[in-house]
Parts: sequence; structure tokens; C-alpha cells
Amino acid sequence: MILAIETSCDDTCAAVVTAAGEIRSNVISSQGVHDRYGGVVPEIASRHHLELLTAVIDDALARADGTFADVELVAVTQGPGLVGALLVGVASAKALAAALGLPLAPVDHLQGHVAANFLGPEPFEPPFLCLVASGGHTFLAHVTSHDRFEVLGRTLDDAAGEAFDKGARLLGLPFPGGPHLQRLAETGDPSAFALPVARRLDGLDFSFSGLKTALLYKLRDFEAGATETPLADLAASYQHAIVEALANRIEQAIERTGVERVAIGGGVAANGPLRARVEALAASRGVAVHIPPRELCTDNAAMIASAARYVEPLRGDAFLALDAYPTGSHAL
Ligand code: KG4
Ligand code: ZN
Repeated sequence: MILAIETSCDDTCAAVVTAAGEIRSNVISSQGVHDRYGGVVPEIASRHHLELLTAVIDDALARADGTFADVELVAVTQGPGLVGALLVGVASAKALAAALGLPLAPVDHLQGHVAANFLGPEPFEPPFLCLVASGGHTFLAHVTSHDRFEVLGRTLDDAAGEAFDKGARLLGLPFPGGPHLQRLAETGDPSAFALPVARRLDGLDFSFSGLKTALLYKLRDFEAGATETPLADLAASYQHAIVEALANRIEQAIERTGVERVAIGGGVAANGPLRARVEALAASRGVAVHIPPRELCTDNAAMIASAARYVEPLRGDAFLALDAYPTGSHAL
């Protein structure tokens, strides 16, 4: 069994996964203390990881019907993310591996989002195209093997999750904004406003900053006018623009590469309309598609365990010098 730890942002996560990719437990403790600040406060996130992690690991083992004696490999997110938050996970993983005499596999968080697709009960095997859209990163990858991918396009400014969060904030919704914006959009008309989709960018890159500004101007126009601001219509149109931008690049990537297999990952892949849109585009083109369950799209440790299966683990005292990296990615 692999025991994995993920603490790159504000969710304290531990999971137990078998070498075959079967999830035995996947515990996610969302700190829920950052909403009042409108964003994650790094120092508070680190302190909460410290308080929660031991209990979360115990819970993951108990739910898996296991003990430390059943663990054969410890895995941990090494980066990218908030460095203080990552260090809590890395230090805990080192301590566990050293005390239990086990090897330690350092995992890249973005490789983890891709590897969520390799988990059972129906693992999706490479090669495939994978859209990874989270709060900090958005890119389209050609996944050539379990431990490698080539980036075909990436965002030039905001990540898609950041676009959701910033748009939600403009609309007066709580943090993290993605799920709240999706809910508000349910009662709105996605075609009410034509917001920019940035279709004309060269290649397979993304851009979301113009969209955010367009929403800001629309809101200002309504505030200055006499009619009530149609918040649900604006949310639906904004969400539609993000989904179309993402779907459009997937379609272009299929055409350019001829790869007829598509998957998604990252927190934004939990978005209902995006999931439906990707399903539909795959069906209309006769392309194989894999959409992981929502809880494997947002941050979790099962995806880190999944990726750890394809990492050369560090043994003995080799992992004691392991450091977290806040930016960049070993996978990119
Ligand atoms: O992958 P993730 O959990 O953490 C990072 O690695 O960043 O992604 C978090 C992002 C946030 O921006 C959040 O608003 C967004 O994913 N998100 C969503 C939904 N659920 C989470 N965006 C749109 N619709 C959702 N249902
Ligand atoms: Zn993530």
C-alpha cells in the first residue's frame, strides 16, 4: 500500500492507494478558514496543515482498514505550491519514512493532476491529451507515458481556476469562487452576454485576463444604470466563455496531433458545464474520453499516490535532503 500526503495549498490530504491504483481511502480536510480573507493566507494554511495532518493520516489508514505496518511506500507532493504548506507535508513524509524504514517518492503536483486519470476502477492509459486546469495552473498536455507529458499550450496570464475565483469575487461570491459561480450560473442564460473567448491566440495557449476585465466593465455599466444587475446571466455567460476557451483548445489539439483520446484534471475539471462540454465534444468526434470523479479533480492525495507509482523512490538517508519547490514544475 502507498500512503500519500498532499499539502500544497489549503487542503490537508492523505490517501491510501494500492500499487494497482485501487483507492482504499482518500481523506480531504478543507481548512475552511480562508474564505473570510477572500483567498488562501499562506501562513494560516501552514499552521492548519501542522494541526490537521496527523489526524488526517490516521483517518486515511483507519478508513483503509490498515496500519503503518501495511504501508510499503510513502509519497508526498514536493511542489509546486505554497512553500510553507508543502514543507509541512515533506517534513512529515520524511519523518514517517525514516521511522518506518520505508522509501519515499517525491511527486510533482501537476503530474498528480494528470495521474488522477490512472486510478481505478477504470484507469485511462497513455497516450492521451490532458487539459489540466486548476487554481494556479492551466495547460494542455500530450501525456506520452505514465511519468511524462509534453505541454502543447499554457495560459499566458491567469489560470482558469483563478479566472473563476476572480470573476466570482467581482460578482460578490465567497472564496473559492468556482463552485459558487457554477451554482449562480445555473439560473442564468449563458448566451445573455457575449464575453471574449480569446479564440484568436496563436497555437494552443490560453488567456483569461481580458475576460475578467470584460466582466468588470459590464458590472460597472449596470451599477451606473437604472436596471438591476443580472448576476445569474453574467455568471452563466462568464462561465460559458471559460468553458468554450478550454474546449476550443482541446478540439484544436485533437486536430493538430491526431491523438483521439482526451482527459481532464485539476479543480476546474470539477465544473459541471466543462465536464458536459468535454463529454459532448468527444462524443461528436468519436474520441475516447476520461473524466475523473470530481473529488479526484480537486486537490487530493490519491492522485499523488497514483503518480508515485511511476516515480523512482528515494531510500535510506537519500530523502532526508529533499526540499520543497514553490514554483516551476519537474513535470513541465
Ligand atoms: O486543483 P485545485 O483543487 O487546486 C490547485 O491546485 O489550484 O483547483 C482549485 C481551483 C479553484 O480556483 C476553484 O475555484 C476551482 O478549482 N474549482 C472550480 C470548481 N471546483 C473547483 N471551478 C469551477 N467550477 C467548479 N465546480
Ligand atoms: Zn491542484
